[in-house]
Amino acid sequence: EKGNHRHFMQKEIFEQPIVVAQTLKSYLRRIDDCVSMPDMEFDLAGFDRVSIVACGTSSYVAMIGKYWIEKFARVPVETDVASEFRYRDPVLGKNQLAIFISQSGETADTLAALKHCKAAGLKTAGIINVPTSSMAREVDLLLPTHAGPEIGVASTKAFTCQLAVMAAFATRIARAKGVLSAAEEKDIVHHLSEAPEAMNFALGHDEDIEAMAHKIAEARDVLYLGRGPDYPMALEGALKLKEISYIHAEGYASGEMKHGPIALIDDHVPLIVIAPSGPLFDKTVSNMQEAQARGAQVVLISDADGIAKAGEGTIATIEMPKVHPLIAPLVYAIPVQLLAYHVAVAKGTDVDQPRNLAKSVTVE
Ligand code: M6R
Repeated sequence: EKGNHRHFMQKEIFEQPIVVAQTLKSYLRRIDDCVSMPDMEFDLAGFDRVSIVACGTSSYVAMIGKYWIEKFARVPVETDVASEFRYRDPVLGKNQLAIFISQSGETADTLAALKHCKAAGLKTAGIINVPTSSMAREVDLLLPTHAGPEIGVASTKAFTCQLAVMAAFATRIARAKGVLSAAEEKDIVHHLSEAPEAMNFALGHDEDIEAMAHKIAEARDVLYLGRGPDYPMALEGALKLKEISYIHAEGYASGEMKHGPIALIDDHVPLIVIAPSGPLFDKTVSNMQEAQARGAQVVLISDADGIAKAGEGTIATIEMPKVHPLIAPLVYAIPVQLLAYHVAVAKGTDVDQPRNLAKSVTVE
């Protein structure tokens, strides 16, 4: 039931600190600050390549997972949307682990890709929310998310729970590979366990975001920019906005702006910039300023330092707590979801059941 909430999507956005904490609880062992995983019949140290396959919002977790696994475990990762994976006849090797991400566990393309990898003799792991689903039964290693049933067609809490599991898995692979020290693992466990509180803080901006949503609701096109793991977050922001508000939206890697999309910019195009302060911040801000110089209406999502440095000339800023880069995607997902939600409500669309969409896509 929706409880006090107007829509399931809103309820599910607000549940995130609790369900992410619940999910983390089953992967983080706080007595010795280690990542703990279900027993597996294979040795993670034996893999020298990883493929991650998923669709839609789950595919953005795959992209963020690529940054994490490559950074922590130094294992090369390729990601594919499931509908492309089989048809490019991917080169599959024995020492390759295939990871599948799905809320429903029933998405036809992802399930077909999983069967394809199994037939090729690969070991498979699944980050899946529905424990009784077809994919949950097929994978060699099931890494469940504990988001609970997700009713809104737009995925929210499943996304952040998938990120939590992905972060834990990347850490586990890195430890198995011997490239992460026990002290570094401890540090990661600490940061991850801080995520639910930071997410709660982010939810505190609900009303500010609602107030600015009316302006965005008038736009015909909206662009999202981010760099590093914030690039998939920009893609997620754009997908969320288009699927529930029907406003045309695109996400771009910040550095790609000047390779084409900047031609779209005028003073009617809101530009949502996702940029926590850190090593990538100045570069993203310089891309943002190029767009601002051409009239872009910038909404900057950053922390206090970032906003102090670059908030001038924006139409709005949304201040996130200062967090470790590893948990930033879990926290920054919240303003991105709330913005899409409030814009859709302002436009009067059917938020939980947007037109033409199904919760689970069981045909190719
Ligand atoms: O159940 P799955 O995670 O496999 O679903 C994948 C996509 O269909 C899903 O994430 C879709 O993109 C959502 N509507 C996004 O909000």
